[in-house]
Amino acid sequence: MRPPDETSRRPRRRALKAAALGLTGVTGYDLLQRRHAILRNFPIVGHFRYLLELFGPELRQYIVTRNDEERPFNRDQRRWIYASAKAQTNTFGFGTDNEMEAVSAMLAIEHAPFPAPPPADGAPGGFPDYAIPAGKVLGAARGRAHAFRPRSLVNVSGMSFGALSGPAVQALNAGCREAGCMQSTGEGGLAPHHCHGGELIFQVGTGYFGCRDSAGRFSLAALQETIAGHPVRAIEIKLSQGAKPGLGGLLPAAKVTPEIARIRGVEPGRDCVSPPGHSAFGSVDELLDVVESIAQATGLPVGIKSAVGEQAFWDELAETMARDRGRGIDFVVVDGGEGGTGAAPLTFTDHVALPFKLGFARVYSAFARAGIAEDVVFVGSGKLGFPDAALFALALGCDMVNVGREAMMSIGCIQAQRCHTGRCPTGVATQNAWLSGGLDPQLKAVRHATYLRALRGELLALARTCGVVHPALVDPGRLAVVGERFTSAPLHEVFGYEPGWAVPPPARRAEIEALMSCGGTWRPPGPELGPLPGDGTGGDGDGRVPAAPSRQPRVPPVVG
Ligand SMILES: Cc1cc2nc3c(=O)[nH]c(=O)nc-3n(C[C@H](O)[C@H](O)[C@H](O)COP(=O)(O)O)c2cc1C
Ligand code: SF4
Repeated sequence: MRPPDETSRRPRRRALKAAALGLTGVTGYDLLQRRHAILRNFPIVGHFRYLLELFGPELRQYIVTRNDEERPFNRDQRRWIYASAKAQTNTFGFGTDNEMEAVSAMLAIEHAPFPAPPPADGAPGGFPDYAIPAGKVLGAARGRAHAFRPRSLVNVSGMSFGALSGPAVQALNAGCREAGCMQSTGEGGLAPHHCHGGELIFQVGTGYFGCRDSAGRFSLAALQETIAGHPVRAIEIKLSQGAKPGLGGLLPAAKVTPEIARIRGVEPGRDCVSPPGHSAFGSVDELLDVVESIAQATGLPVGIKSAVGEQAFWDELAETMARDRGRGIDFVVVDGGEGGTGAAPLTFTDHVALPFKLGFARVYSAFARAGIAEDVVFVGSGKLGFPDAALFALALGCDMVNVGREAMMSIGCIQAQRCHTGRCPTGVATQNAWLSGGLDPQLKAVRHATYLRALRGELLALARTCGVVHPALVDPGRLAVVGERFTSAPLHEVFGYEPGWAVPPPARRAEIEALMSCGGTWRPPGPELGPLPGDGTGGDGDGRVPAAPSRQPRVPPVVG
């Protein structure tokens, strides 16, 4: 007979064994499943995050923060992205938790009494694609050979392979293919991870990665060689980035893997430096010469991306283009000071460059004053991946918006803000093979596309609330900025816009309305680059986006 203490220990041992077995089972499941990168990378402990997410609203009744706290993206914003990307209900219940009477600059949309009816399923702007073509043809004003109308006015901002992992870049690119969007390569060159069917904008940064000679200078021949055979639709010269204007970047030697070195055209195992400024030009005049030489050699629209600082540059650029109609940029991407980065000093992210709304309004005004706003496609970036923010940007004069970190969140980023350490827990912003291996690019591509369509869907719903069928047709006067002591002013008054600014002229208005009507078809004015990947049209580019999986939720879903 066993001693009594041994008998009493038996159930405890059994319980421990069962627990160990259970944990092994959960670990095995976590490692093998592909839906959640966090669980694959951090078996067991990753579940705590999901539990906290699940019970967070109840816990927050008693402790911690409000739904609109946390930065740069608050909890409501992140929840909207995560739910949209997963095709879950993305509506909110009970009413706003904004303090409507204690606001300093709140957007209030003055809706129409008679909203525009929603389009039928499959019709332009309708379920499931929620397609919104851009209101302008990119490169048309300057007669570029490959001018085209972007099929989606929401596209993905430049985030290079290097800052992001290979699977993350792949997920974004494949998601763009599904949603009919374009992806900017970012300044790190064109990687195989960019080649999953999504259309591209090739970015020329100060390091000229993917378009440099052996001495590190800009090389037009290298650029042409890099983009040959790829669905590159435009070239974007990056002057600066909202999060770190006037700063270059450094990829430390340890991160310069042979793959990254090959793509960037640098030596492996040595620090990879992108300088603060361009060596190919140092004035507006020289910039325009480089723009024209690229456009002539490639036939593609060429634009610039910049944060907004010194105003004289923008005035000079607009005036020079107005005077000398033979040279000019086709588009400008204005990046707000609130924009993101893989890594930058805090002083720069916090204090250099104007915030988006202020900076963009100044840039738009410079072109409008010079009388050439219609000749340029305006793109905005800086926390614009939400329907209200995108509508605000369009009302200020943007023709398109780019999404960066919002796109990252749609593929799993949890705003851990460790992108600069190389230890991103979700595998989005890391070159660590174990961590990035947790991110399933196929699954995340679907989530990314679902988010992009949901954003377009709610943006269209906002436009219809204002009585029009396309967000570019929303009168800026309908957007009011509500301030303290019950003041309110229309957006164009707040930003000093003159009558007629940021509003499509009648002919373009009619064109946009035709695009959104069932019979509306359009052809790009220039010859095509070749078949458009994934558009199912065999390359004649009628601008319709590809058929989407039916799991796309309707926008806005009505839940009683
Ligand atoms: C991880 C990361 C990497 C980035 N890399 C680039 C880049 O290579 N080139 C660039 O022009 N902007 C880069 N950006 C800035 C974004 O393209 C974008 O302009 C900025 O984040 C604002 O958009 P968002 O608020 O939607 O993120 C990067 C941003 C992040 C978060
Ligand atoms: S480190 Fe954090 S913020 Fe950066 S990509 Fe990864 S999850 Fe997102």
